[in-house]
Amino acid sequence: MTEPLPAAQLYTEQFAVDPYPSFARLRADAPVCPVSSPRFDSYLLTRFDDARTALTDPRLSKDLYGPGQHYLQIFGPNSEALNRNMLNSDPPEHTRLRRLVSQAFAPRRIEALRPRVRQIVDDLIDGFVARGRAELMHDFAIPLPMVVICELLGVPRADQDRVLDWTQVIRTSGSSRRPPAQERAAVGEAQVRLHHYLAELVAAKRVAPADDMISALIEGCDQDGRLSEAELVTTTFLLLFAGHQTTADFLGNATVALLTHPDQLDLLRDTPELLPSAIEELLRFDGPLPVASPRVATEDVEYQGVRIPAGSIVGVALNAANHDPAHFVDPDRLDLRR
Ligand code: HEM
Repeated sequence: MTEPLPAAQLYTEQFAVDPYPSFARLRADAPVCPVSSPRFDSYLLTRFDDARTALTDPRLSKDLYGPGQHYLQIFGPNSEALNRNMLNSDPPEHTRLRRLVSQAFAPRRIEALRPRVRQIVDDLIDGFVARGRAELMHDFAIPLPMVVICELLGVPRADQDRVLDWTQVIRTSGSSRRPPAQERAAVGEAQVRLHHYLAELVAAKRVAPADDMISALIEGCDQDGRLSEAELVTTTFLLLFAGHQTTADFLGNATVALLTHPDQLDLLRDTPELLPSAIEELLRFDGPLPVASPRVATEDVEYQGVRIPAGSIVGVALNAANHDPAHFVDPDRLDLRR
């Protein structure tokens, strides 16, 4: 049995900069590693095959607000009103919540967004020229997905800066360097304000529907009552938050990867048709969610001979799995032709 690894020893500043050496050690020596922390204990899976099995293992539940669950309390007392959504649920709730939303993400509808997304990109880059300088995250990677998702949902332009500010407080919690008490208060307040704003927006769309996703969700829910009022808010929050943070961080990571691999950047410039597979490789190489997808064991389970007791939180380290040499040849090499 591997001794529990204190979270403070794993999640260091060095880990935040480059988690891959730690992931390599864990994959080799403790592929199912108990991690202890004052807030909660968990098991971290780092091998590709275990990750793939765990992500579809019905004994590992996503219902993190289920009876007796405490894990999501780390996000504070106001979190549930926003976070009890499809991401944190199991079938049949998950199936019901996801069905309505997935229609809006049909490939044809996403493709139809392309000209508008291109326009937003052009406008942001025109801003660099006007200012004579640019900071990639602040001036491009963070606003781009935010504006796209706000337009998709139907968040008015005039409100987008406020919404961005609140999501940024939540997004940077844990890395903001605010003292813990101040951090908790700031996150709690941002959650309350965002919840209040989204509830009012849903109410306004109900009175005056428009050609946007919130109105479509309301219509779907009115037709056969499939989404409650609270679920409309949590679903809107999930789309806003899940789509924004991941994409912004991915744009940052992908840019660093290309700038530190100039041969690959040249290859992509010379061969732009590689872009779709290059994005897959950049997601594999340094995806935006290094340790993600917490689940809870609903019964005792065993991975790699390690018994994980019922009730344990199980974390799937996606970026560790994506660098597993048992699955990828030369996994630490960025290869846009992979
Ligand atoms: C680089 C971009 C993205 C990455 C790497 C990413 C990654 C992920 C991951 C790892 C999960 C959790 C899977 C799990 O725990 O089982 C997830 C769930 C989800 N993401 Fe993303 N995501 C990205 C962009 C987006 C965007 C743009 C949207 C929407 C606008 C979005 C909406 C969602 C939703 C709704 C879920 C919950 C799905 C479900 O429970 O069935 N994501 N994403």
